[in-house]
Amino acid sequence: MEDGYIDLGNLQKQFLCCKPINKLQWNTANTGTIEYNTMSLELQEKILNKTVNYDLVKKYPMKPSYQRAFLKFLINELEKSNQEVHDDLYNAYCLLLQVSDHQENATQYRHFVYNDTEAITLQESMSFVSLGTTGLCTWQAALGLAEWCMTNRKILTGKKILELGCGVGLTGLTILRNCEPKEYIFSDTHPAVLNMLCKNIIINYPSYDEHVAIIGSPEDDVKLKFDCNGVNVEAIRLPWEEINDSWRRSSSALSPDIILAADVLYDDSCFDSLATALCHLLRNDGTYAIIAATVRNVATISKFLNLLGSYDLAFHEAQLAEKKFFAHVDDTPIRIVKILKVDA
Ligand SMILES: C[S@@+](CC[C@H](N)C(=O)[O-])C[C@H]1O[C@@H](n2cnc3c(N)ncnc32)[C@H](O)[C@@H]1O
Repeated sequence: MEDGYIDLGNLQKQFLCCKPINKLQWNTANTGTIEYNTMSLELQEKILNKTVNYDLVKKYPMKPSYQRAFLKFLINELEKSNQEVHDDLYNAYCLLLQVSDHQENATQYRHFVYNDTEAITLQESMSFVSLGTTGLCTWQAALGLAEWCMTNRKILTGKKILELGCGVGLTGLTILRNCEPKEYIFSDTHPAVLNMLCKNIIINYPSYDEHVAIIGSPEDDVKLKFDCNGVNVEAIRLPWEEINDSWRRSSSALSPDIILAADVLYDDSCFDSLATALCHLLRNDGTYAIIAATVRNVATISKFLNLLGSYDLAFHEAQLAEKKFFAHVDDTPIRIVKILKVDA
């Protein structure tokens, strides 16, 4: 939706997923220049209602310091341009200044809008590494993979999908909402990640029915399991190190058609266990894995890909999806590879 030179829908999308304030694209043409001196009080109010005062933000609050920084930026720009500032902007800013330390550090959410009206809401930690894990926030490759899945919906329809190292759930929840899989198994190794993932599934899964869900105890590997309109949804503890021949024999037949993973190629000490896991999970029958990696270090990713041959696995590059559904928080390049089993 456009309003004058501000693309309100796009601004909202970026705000809701906490795109850094200095990277926000405000205007339709993305020329980088906004004429704040012509920003009417009415438009200011609309911006406030699409961002800080938006219902979803009231229900699932975003980081207060981010909301403050957004309002401060807007108020500063208006004041610098000698433009009258709407009272509600000052009021909202003052309310955010009164946030206690407890509220500042309380549970925070981001909202990933994928079309004009729908969003995935995720509880997250605001630090990249928290409680000794990288899994409590959404990584760039998860957005890249979610975008790929939206673009390749038909490939996923009717399929049994296993996600490895799923983190807080963006990719899986996007697929559940949009791609009609037959089964979706979220998996991760870290207890805090699995805990937050289960909360996020419950927040977002529209037909979740707590009466038919199985909630696992802390010792159980299955943390959450329920059927929704014929889709089997599970959240399980699945460390790659435990996926071996004996696990395969004892497990109740995890036989996915497609394996997905995002941002799991950053620590080379895990590469052997990840490759072993893929070797055990993939079959020579057309099953494959799609792995999305944020390219921070080209050599690290190459190291993993070069290892695959010794596990009877081969890879080829998958086509990146155009960034058209989600707002992307940063511009770090993403690489997506398809991995298959080859004859030994
Ligand atoms: C960088 S995070 C990415 C999370 C999510 N896929 C995303 O892109 O937002 C890596 C994830 O892999 C999980 N992980 C790391 N090592 C693992 C292992 N050996 N077995 C299973 N999961 C693992 C972590 O717990 C974490 O959730």
